[in-house]
Amino acid sequence: MVTSAPNVRHWRMLALGALGLALCGALAWVDSVRAAAGGDDEPIRVNAAAAESAAIHAVAPPREVSESATSEDARVTLGRKMFFDPALSVPAGTSCATCHDPKRGYAGGNGSPLGVAHGSRAGHFARRNTPSVLYLRFVRPFHLEWEDEAELPEAFGGFFWDGRANTVAQVASQPLLNPNEMANPSTRQITDTLRASAYADELRAGFDHVFDTPENAVEALGFCLEAFLTSPALAPFSSKFDGYVRGETALSPLENEGLALFDDRNKGACSSCHKLDVSSHEPERSLFTDYGYDTVSVPRNHALPANRDPNAYDLGVCERHDARLHTEDPWFCGAFRTPSLRNVALRPSFMHNGVFTDLRTVVAFYATRGSDPKRWYARAKFDDLPQKYQKYVNTSAAPYNQLAGAPPALSEHEIDAIVAFLGTLTDERLPLAP
Ligand code: HEC
Ligand code: HEC
Repeated sequence: MVTSAPNVRHWRMLALGALGLALCGALAWVDSVRAAAGGDDEPIRVNAAAAESAAIHAVAPPREVSESATSEDARVTLGRKMFFDPALSVPAGTSCATCHDPKRGYAGGNGSPLGVAHGSRAGHFARRNTPSVLYLRFVRPFHLEWEDEAELPEAFGGFFWDGRANTVAQVASQPLLNPNEMANPSTRQITDTLRASAYADELRAGFDHVFDTPENAVEALGFCLEAFLTSPALAPFSSKFDGYVRGETALSPLENEGLALFDDRNKGACSSCHKLDVSSHEPERSLFTDYGYDTVSVPRNHALPANRDPNAYDLGVCERHDARLHTEDPWFCGAFRTPSLRNVALRPSFMHNGVFTDLRTVVAFYATRGSDPKRWYARAKFDDLPQKYQKYVNTSAAPYNQLAGAPPALSEHEIDAIVAFLGTLTDERLPLAP
């Protein structure tokens, strides 16, 4: 499928409105998006957004944190140290990389058997499955789009499964303070850990007043983690598929067949959400997501602690509370952000609730959700969504449009082919601990 050229001007307007981005930062960011979308230069300027917003803070009153001497490289180096620092949790031992594990494509469950990650404290689990934090430089701010003839708006972008944050810097302190993740009781505690770290002097050298207040320390931490997570090293485009689109590598016959099924509007139709563009020689055009939201309506994960309450549901994007962009409407309930499928074969569990622990099962679910719902839903169809929202679940387009009793959307062999193709999305080079 040929992806139509993105509307850069539209993105620029959105970028200008983006929360928390300084004007020059937003423009630099748009340039990078344009470059990534097949424009003029190399897509290496995303970090300028973080750099510029940091610079804006530099002119703030003296007690605020300011980057005096940090170069982008220094921030990336510091961010990498923080990302892999197990001292940052309470009790110590859980770093960002414990859940976002390089060996798992920067996703993972920290050894949890439930489908969602184990936190730093015994018996504590994250609410949702850990998404990969690779390729984050391409995530646009959360926004709504109205297609010309569409009845309802569509949501795109934003961080987390429900798009509730717009920058990595905003995201960074959330796992640190979440009692089920890294469990710091306060930003003061995080500051004390940073002050005692082996990289404290580098932080002092890079950010004026960094340890004056917990706010300053956490802000600097956010800048550094953002610089690391949006650096080119974390979007390496080094998979077999990338070699294939660059014309350097051939896919096997089975992988080729899987690619065709993935892209075929009447078969897998996977690429209608997990976007790719094989007509382009630029792997940046194939991010395997449009960052849109959809109600795939995966089965309920009965292993989740929260699901012991039969009336508890994770409603995804309609749980966001955003005064500017309303997403409380019923058609957003049950919708989650389409994950990129890059490095998907490395993940130990799949979907927002981690209900599947095997990649082939995910593809089999897509193939038979319509034709054999009893195979997936223990109680009733779409059992992880309250009845009143079920009418918004997509049942009209492939691969969802098979009626109960009809043949599956994909045969067993076709499922194998798609799984083989998904295996070509694994990067050969991923940054490890410093
Ligand atoms: C206990 C496991 C765990 C730890 C530790 C953890 N995370 Fe996460 N991370 C998650 C989960 C779960 C989500 C998804 C939460 C959601 O969508 O509601 C997530 C989401 C994210 C996202 C959003 C990704 C996206 O695609 O939108 C970023 C960025 C992120 N984490 C960064 C970090 C950083 C930085 C650290 C360390 C300071 C960290 N995480 C520590 C489990 C973890
Ligand atoms: C209409 C949009 C749409 C289509 C079509 C679609 N997906 Fe998805 N996909 C999603 C969304 C949204 C999620 C996350 C759903 C959730 O967690 O509730 C997802 C999740 C996944 C995951 C889990 C990834 C992870 O990190 O947990 C895999 C694997 C996947 N899809 C593969 C496929 C394949 C293969 C096809 C074609 C047979 C396909 N998808 C078709 C939207 C789509």
